[in-house]
Amino acid sequence: MTQDLWQAVDSYFEQRLLGEDAALAAALAASDAAGLPQIAVSPLMGKLLQLLVAITGARRVLEVGTLAGYSSLWLARALPQGGRIVTLERVEAHSQVARANVERAGLSDRVEVRVGPALDGLAQLSAEGFAPIDLAFIDADKENNWPYVDWAIRLGRSGTLILVDNVVREGRVLRDDPSNTAVMGVRRMLHELEHDARVEATALQTVGAKGHDGFALIRVK
Ligand code: SAH
Ligand code: DHB
Ligand code: MG
Repeated sequence: MTQDLWQAVDSYFEQRLLGEDAALAAALAASDAAGLPQIAVSPLMGKLLQLLVAITGARRVLEVGTLAGYSSLWLARALPQGGRIVTLERVEAHSQVARANVERAGLSDRVEVRVGPALDGLAQLSAEGFAPIDLAFIDADKENNWPYVDWAIRLGRSGTLILVDNVVREGRVLRDDPSNTAVMGVRRMLHELEHDARVEATALQTVGAKGHDGFALIRVK
């Protein structure tokens, strides 16, 4: 019953606040058609990403974890002329679906999908001088959450915003569980944040279409 209610409220907000969007709908359809997992951000969370890019005036955006590029499209929508997002994806098949979605949305000039392990991609971006980044969205293998956040901090500047998805997972974040390496990755990140003087952070729980989860919001001092 609770999940039904969360879902109903999400649907209501979507109807009032989001409107129809052919490119985003096509991106999800293409993702499903290719058999990719249904783990993209919710539409309302996508809108939050778009708003954060707009609010901060971000021009250089990093995404870790592309899947079909659904969140990339939301982020890219708010970029100004000349703005750019590089999104890192380990799985070649995911990157192909994402590139097609980006092209269909007419955003190829702003979104670059790069294939390979994100840790390699981040080292490469650093070597290329892709900095300072204004905003980062981290949504890949949770085991590497802390290395990704640390990279984003080092590629950032004072004021850079970093969002990390899926930090609650129905409350599983509360306990060490060596059999759940994703949860251990989230907990490691939180432990590091506790002692890291470079940043200030918060985390919010969310309920909705994707159940009970949440995200962390980190600002580079
Ligand atoms: N941000 C997307 C969802 C990403 S799902 C959206 O909301 O639309 C997580 C993605 O991270 C998957 O496509 C997975 O293949 C990718 N991933 C997992 N481990 C990775 C790694 N080490 N490097 C890069 N991408 C990785
Ligand atoms: C999973 C990953 C995500 O990034 C997400 O938002 C939801 C689920 C998963 O791996 O199950
Ligand atoms: Mg996620």
